[in-house]
Amino acid sequence: MVFLELFLQTVEKHFMVGHRVTCYVFTNQLAAGPRVPLPEGRRVVVLEVPGAPRWEDMSMQCIITPHFLCEVDYLVCTEVDMKFRDHVSMEILSPIFGTLHPSFYRAALKDFSYEHRPQSQVHIPRDQGDFYYMGTFFGGSVVEVHRLTLACHQEMGVDLASGIEVVWHDESHLNRHLLDHKPLKVLSPEDL
Ligand code: GAL
Repeated sequence: MVFLELFLQTVEKHFMVGHRVTCYVFTNQLAAGPRVPLPEGRRVVVLEVPGAPRWEDMSMQCIITPHFLCEVDYLVCTEVDMKFRDHVSMEILSPIFGTLHPSFYRAALKDFSYEHRPQSQVHIPRDQGDFYYMGTFFGGSVVEVHRLTLACHQEMGVDLASGIEVVWHDESHLNRHLLDHKPLKVLSPEDL
């Protein structure tokens, strides 16, 4: 909640300016949201998720459901401790897109921080992979993002039941999914 006001202000200034935008905020603190005045065509929808002691568990509970289909064409998923600093608009959109993690741009494949333990549903062997995506900025059409998050949710359930907590949580799931379902657009680390 301490990040939300600045996040929304920078969304309004830089993100999809001139287009209709709905910000879906996943939180367990419904009443505490800031009041940021938004121009016509922009709105904030607060969606309740169960609280959890750790942010890792919270971020794994933000599920995209098919009902978004009735409301928007594309979903862009990000984290609230981000701020937009420059123009971001339609050029990022595609059926599915991911963003290269700045820390791994020049790294060797064997050094990518994929989940490597074969017991995990989303493990990637050390000699496999292509890019390392950051979990903090990805998206696409509602259908594709729903497909992605549903698959991740199911894999998380299986890992949890086997007592496995993957190394970078939702980011590890995203990386496995984007390896199997190549994004049509890959954003530059500079975008982050
Ligand atoms: C860090 C980042 C984490 C995670 C990790 C992957 O730089 O803060 O969120 O992406 O890299 O190795």
